[in-house]
Amino acid sequence: MSTIPQYPQSIALIGLSGTGKSTVGQVLAERLGWSLLDTDATIVEQTGRSAAEIFAENGEAVFRDLETQVLANIFAHTPCIVATGGGIVLRETNRTLLQQNSYIVWLDAPIETLIARLQAHDEERPLLQRNDPSTQLAQLQSERAALYQTIADIRIDTGEKTTTEICDSILQAANLT
Ligand code: S3P
Repeated sequence: MSTIPQYPQSIALIGLSGTGKSTVGQVLAERLGWSLLDTDATIVEQTGRSAAEIFAENGEAVFRDLETQVLANIFAHTPCIVATGGGIVLRETNRTLLQQNSYIVWLDAPIETLIARLQAHDEERPLLQRNDPSTQLAQLQSERAALYQTIADIRIDTGEKTTTEICDSILQAANLT
């Protein structure tokens, strides 16, 4: 876990698909009056294509390059909340950018909870198309948990908590209440 800045200028939300990054990001941004920047949404804005389309047409590596470019530019907009794609931690450059610029919150939840939340939208998640989603998410969790853990300032299990409770915990932990 990295050192907590006294008043961070940005909060980054990391974690697997379905952990609540976008929802929590929206509420945090409203409560703080900060901008919300979403790496996936920014890629869509800049390329006119979704993550699923880029994965299908160009492959994962091209998507990861775009993700790194977007992340490198995002901190020009501080103070901000950054909602990241679940795979942002795969590249060391991204992990360093996040650590240098933000208070990092790892949102986590049991696999069954993630599956229930994602059911309505799973066609938008290319990495969940390859296998049955439950097996695939469990695989991603085992591959990524150590990376999330390494850079996170705080881990929150969102399974049993309301969005308000999650945001309260984050603001308190980041000295922003
Ligand atoms: C990915 C998660 C997605 C998106 C892309 C890859 C991943 O974002 O960035 O499909 O590698 O886990 P969400 O975490 O918002 O679903």
